[in-house]
Amino acid sequence: MKVGIVGSGGREHALCAILKKSNKISEIFCFPGNAGTSTIAQNINLDPNNFEDLKNFILKQKIDLMIIGPEKPLVEGIVDFFEEHNIKVFGPSKVAAQLEGSKIFTKKICQKYKIPTAKFGIFQNKIDTKKYLEGWNYPAVIKADNLASGKGVYICNNQKESDTAINEIFDGKFGKAKNILIEEFLEGEEMSFFIISDGKTFKCFGTAQDHKRVFEGDKGKNTGGMGAYSPSRLISKELEKKILKKIIKPTISGLSELNSNYKGFLYAGLMIVDNEPYLIEYNVRMGDPECQTILPRLKSDLAVIMNSCCNGTLDKITIEWEDKKSLCVVLCAKGYPDTFKKGTEIPNLDNILINSDNHLFHAGTKKVINKIIVNGGRVLNFVSISDDFLSAREKVHKIIEKVNWTDGFYRKDIGYKVID
Ligand code: AMP
Ligand code: GLY
Repeated sequence: MKVGIVGSGGREHALCAILKKSNKISEIFCFPGNAGTSTIAQNINLDPNNFEDLKNFILKQKIDLMIIGPEKPLVEGIVDFFEEHNIKVFGPSKVAAQLEGSKIFTKKICQKYKIPTAKFGIFQNKIDTKKYLEGWNYPAVIKADNLASGKGVYICNNQKESDTAINEIFDGKFGKAKNILIEEFLEGEEMSFFIISDGKTFKCFGTAQDHKRVFEGDKGKNTGGMGAYSPSRLISKELEKKILKKIIKPTISGLSELNSNYKGFLYAGLMIVDNEPYLIEYNVRMGDPECQTILPRLKSDLAVIMNSCCNGTLDKITIEWEDKKSLCVVLCAKGYPDTFKKGTEIPNLDNILINSDNHLFHAGTKKVINKIIVNGGRVLNFVSISDDFLSAREKVHKIIEKVNWTDGFYRKDIGYKVID
């Protein structure tokens, strides 16, 4: 089977590396991939948002299965477009991808099916929004409705901060804003919960906890994710049952009422408050870096799993996991998430220990002649699996120290809630 992966981050390198283990796969193409994928697959320098060019290449090369990593092409309808051209593709349709593309679409599903979520109001202009917040018991959470790469969310502690947020959103900081969402602030602990679905059946696909802030102790600006561990410390059979019953099942059946059966990964961002799950957001893809943390524990063949999702036969297979702990640390370019230098060389990567327990997934890297250079803020993902989180983290730190990259930095406290 020939497989294609759309995307260029750590998540896509992890998907590529885990798929590479399958004896069902003869060739992998990455669109466009990174320096890591270039060593195990063929990188094709096509824009993931130019569907026409991708389709022409896929049909010419007779690629059997396409896998879509990031949200943008999903929200823009890449799955519908490929299926119109008889290309088999793993990922949700444009209608279903609104679960991530429009926070208001998701809130309306929550309202209709009584899915637990923060109480909210939706407004179309500055005056009505500010009126709604008069006398508010702060903090308030204010969200742009558009896809904003995780940046369109403000946690406001007073009216001055909320006025700034409202003005920035309606003045177009995240693109043209028709709607704004105001939410009550939920106080609890976050958890990422994943399922995989073929449209009829779904199966759990692991849990993780991400570390979004740039500095140790969860300080500083929000990032795409500085590290993660899996499984989440919060998950139990009882909590999983509640999440499936109160959140996942009503969402999947709500979508089928819209004639859109959900195919692909679905990522529920949850807040756990007193052992009760609340939905904060849906993402219609794997998380990054959660994917890098979860996939190394997978014992079953990922190619078989994804193919069965596309064929509607997920009920015929079982998904098995290694009963171990996994931890991922992201090595970033100094200055991230603000400005950082591109083009500098990352040294010592040739001698890094890679085996079934220790993984290196590239993210913002590029190969130029024989050098690996920086091409994005989150540069490399180091993952180790072990019997406990402490030794997984120690192994990761030892490997990062060997890289000894003076222009890079990383959080040394990933997993602090599960490591004393
Ligand atoms: P979102 O893009 O909706 O996931 O929001 C980004 C981050 O903002 C989440 O990961 C949470 O840390 C935080 N957040 C969003 N909504 C709420 C809420 N209602 N209460 C507390 N924190 C929230
Ligand atoms: N790690 C957060 C995300 O992938 O959205």
